[in-house]
Amino acid sequence: MVRKIGVLTSGGDAPGMNSAIRSIVKTAANLKIEVIGILDGYKGMYLNKYQQLTLENTANIFDQGGTILKSSRFEEFKQEDIVIKCIENVKKEGIEAIIVIGGDGTYHGALALSKHGMKTIAIPGTIDNDISGTCKTIGFDTALTTITENISKLKDTALSHGRCLVVEVMGRHCDDLAMYSLMASDLDLVICNAFNLDFDLLSKRVSELMKLNGEVIVVVSENLIDVFDIAKQLEDTTGIESRGIKLGYIQRGGSPTVSDRLLAKRAGIHAVSLISEGKDNQAICLIDGKIVSRPIEVALNENVKDLGIYEDYQDLR
Ligand code: F6P
Repeated sequence: MVRKIGVLTSGGDAPGMNSAIRSIVKTAANLKIEVIGILDGYKGMYLNKYQQLTLENTANIFDQGGTILKSSRFEEFKQEDIVIKCIENVKKEGIEAIIVIGGDGTYHGALALSKHGMKTIAIPGTIDNDISGTCKTIGFDTALTTITENISKLKDTALSHGRCLVVEVMGRHCDDLAMYSLMASDLDLVICNAFNLDFDLLSKRVSELMKLNGEVIVVVSENLIDVFDIAKQLEDTTGIESRGIKLGYIQRGGSPTVSDRLLAKRAGIHAVSLISEGKDNQAICLIDGKIVSRPIEVALNENVKDLGIYEDYQDLR
């Protein structure tokens, strides 16, 4: 029976990571399992940065954004010798299993840990929603809400000036934040990985929509085009005053929504239960409203996401 587990958060922080940490600590306390927080993600494993997590010191974190464990991107973790060293380090601390909370990069690290003999469970925590084996990742709903609220504000000023705003949202290489915020904001124009960009069609639609609505917002997935360039090109072609905007890190902050809290709460419970049942190499997934687990590799490769929203989108296709 496992008596001591480690937990870490890695990659971009996401609202709900703290909720998952709290859930892990509470579930583990019921099972008399000690929880050690590993600080700064995988880097903290390498540098031996630990903090014991208790019911007391996690008492008020459930609804707080960010991660009390801090996070980092630790490229060195792609090297086998570093992974082995990290496992040796935590084993010296008496840690018998690890729960990692993060996105795609974190999951690849989790896979490496598991392959080298460390019992590992992965919880999907990223605003990007880029783990294909789960319908939702923790943080996605909160970021989506933030984006949608900010688009409403941008609409106010776009309308006041009769402008076109080209708004880049996060997601790394995943279009979900762009597509869901577009649909939730009743917008028409998106530039994203899923659809080829036809600039002539885009500028024609911008002119039409300006006549209809008095403002235009174009949502753009990140890492695709330069929003400032596109805004300039649209202004030159349509004669409509246009601006590029990157919503940026505001999308990662804030108290988690109810949906993210519930997902985090349930994921934490299931992760600790899996460990207490002696399971290894599992990722927590939300599939058809149920919390289940899949081997980490499967969670990275299998696609269970509902693509309906992409099919429902009607413009610029
Ligand atoms: O993975 C979350 C995320 O916010 C992505 O949407 C974005 O591409 C990236 O992190 C930004 O990373 P960093 O915090 O390293 O600039």
